[in-house]
Amino acid sequence: MRRVDPFTSPARLTGELVELRPADGRDAARLHELMADPEVGRLTGSTHGDDPADAGPSWSADRLAEIYDRWAGAEDRIVWVIVERSTGATVGEALLLDHDPANRSLGYRLWISGARDRGLGTEVTRLAVDHAFAILGAHRVELEVYAFNPRARRVYEKVGFVLEGTRREALRYGDGWVDAHLMAVLEPDWRAARQG
Ligand SMILES: CC(C)(COP(=O)(O)OP(=O)(O)OC[C@H]1O[C@@H](n2cnc3c(N)ncnc32)[C@H](O)[C@@H]1OP(=O)(O)O)[C@@H](O)C(=O)NCCC(=O)NCCS
Repeated sequence: MRRVDPFTSPARLTGELVELRPADGRDAARLHELMADPEVGRLTGSTHGDDPADAGPSWSADRLAEIYDRWAGAEDRIVWVIVERSTGATVGEALLLDHDPANRSLGYRLWISGARDRGLGTEVTRLAVDHAFAILGAHRVELEVYAFNPRARRVYEKVGFVLEGTRREALRYGDGWVDAHLMAVLEPDWRAARQG
């Protein structure tokens, strides 16, 4: 029997609040619209100040469609759209990326627009981390979070990510500089927390 590649044929993950559905080019128009959210731009480091002229995605929706189609077949990442189950609306994206098979490590990113502060981000992160360890066989999942984003840091800590270090003044924002914190969760800690 042919083995299904968990990266090029990713699973759909279902929680209580959200569904993570593998993304492709057909999602680009909706994601492009959501990426115009200034808070998403600021907190993901995609924009460098409050000037509305700099806001919004740097790619067109068409270019984004090509990128999502390419990512859908990529062997080093899984890109999901976040669907809020109560409304059926796509509200963001979550990615496991930069797969390093030799070191069994992955990166993680997510953003949500229009549905924040009601538990979705926490559930999305739990689903993605569970998938990384239980299905993809990862040993380590890591991410970066900017110092001006305590909400995201709180979500990551709740799911088991631990602060490992700080890239000082890694992001320019307006006239200032913002630190980027490196956080990671390891498989043995995740397993112990589940058993506990
Ligand atoms: C960060 C993000 C993914 C979190 O998802 P969410 O659905 O809004 O978060 P949740 O509702 O699951 O949880 C938020 C938690 O942070 C806490 N929180 C909210 N604002 C906070 C603040 N200013 N300081 C500290 N904690 C805060 C909430 O109380 C909650 O914790 P609790 O469950 O212990 O009460 C989402 O807000 C988002 O996409 N923001 C914009 C883009 C972004 O920041 N992406 C991440 C880049 S690293």
